[in-house]
Amino acid sequence: MELKGRSVILGVTGGIAAYKAAQLLRLLRKRGAEVQVAMTEGATHFVTTTTFQALSGKPVFSDQWDARMPNGMAHIDLSRQADLILIAPASADFLARVACGMADDLLATMVLARDCPLLVAPAMNRQMWENPATRRNVAQLAADGVRVLGPASGEQACGEFGAGRMWEPEEIIEEVIAFLAPKLLDGKRVLMTAGPTFEAIDPVRGITNLSSGRMGYALARAARHAGAQVTLVSGPVGFSAPQGVDCVNVVSALEMHEAVMAHAAAADIFIGVAAVADYRVANVAAHKLKKDVSGVPVIELVENPDILATVAALKDGPFCVGFAAESSNLEEYAQAKRRRKKIPLIAANLIQDGLGGENNRLILFDDEGVHPLMLAPKSVLASQLVEHIAYLTGKM
Ligand code: C5P
Repeated sequence: MELKGRSVILGVTGGIAAYKAAQLLRLLRKRGAEVQVAMTEGATHFVTTTTFQALSGKPVFSDQWDARMPNGMAHIDLSRQADLILIAPASADFLARVACGMADDLLATMVLARDCPLLVAPAMNRQMWENPATRRNVAQLAADGVRVLGPASGEQACGEFGAGRMWEPEEIIEEVIAFLAPKLLDGKRVLMTAGPTFEAIDPVRGITNLSSGRMGYALARAARHAGAQVTLVSGPVGFSAPQGVDCVNVVSALEMHEAVMAHAAAADIFIGVAAVADYRVANVAAHKLKKDVSGVPVIELVENPDILATVAALKDGPFCVGFAAESSNLEEYAQAKRRRKKIPLIAANLIQDGLGGENNRLILFDDEGVHPLMLAPKSVLASQLVEHIAYLTGKM
């Protein structure tokens, strides 16, 4: 429910992607937003007002001369309570009309009369998108502070390939959530690690752990929503990077160390969430170990570098945050780790509370004391941790 209490005007204009606006509306509502739909006349040729009325639970407005608003001021009254106006799909014609400030239908008039931000998700044929007139209009909109989402490239409804596909509804929603989030880390460069590492024994086997990467990925997403520029160095996990986050995929602790050190000097904040293997295999076999050939294999281990401690020891390095997953003596072990690695903040959790799961419970330890964060989805804990990091770094 990341959009709970938010009010969105969804403007639908005439293009085949209008059918995806129905799904977009469903997702906005599912995330908790109140949605008022307004359509151009063209849009009603692709999807009916009835569809959007049923999905939004509100009457849909499409006619400038609609008599349903008692004072005849639909173009003003409808948008006054809104947090933003989102036009999806935004046709080439609609972008052109907004770029030059026209008010020739209800939706364009609402946009011109708005006192809230405007986001547009263009959708059109690739030649229309590449046309110098559209390029000019989009540049003008961006210069006017309009947020342009996409478009994507790929196969188009007309059968051609190129730029002009509307972003998928999930991608648009993610941008809306990011747009509305408080910018607590605005402009900060955040470097993070997440997931497990995998230490090879032979070409097919290795040593790893049960870290899912969920906490780190949730934190990368929350930091990005808070306005940070996020680089995520990730061990092998089963999902893709959060939208808008730069991801560097690695496998072993040594690769993770190298990738982190390549980015550490430029970072303002470093958060080590990864469950990095403490040891790697010294005698990695070049070929698959065969059973019964030379008896039980002996695996020799050597210590991996401690990435977090290395970053924390950098002169003028980033503000460092560590994680500690323990199976007992949480406070004692976490505090000892914080001192040993010389980091200002550590987030500790019991393995039985969070490892690999959807929810977790964290206890934050810093110079000011102990701050427990109650059992919650990892996305909620991630936002709370971002708030705490913003508070501590804001004091520096
Ligand atoms: O020492 P321990 O592994 O328990 O410490 C956990 C914290 O240290 C985590 O933040 C983890 O990402 C980081 N760490 C690291 N490099 C290692 C081991 C742990 O960055 N080799």
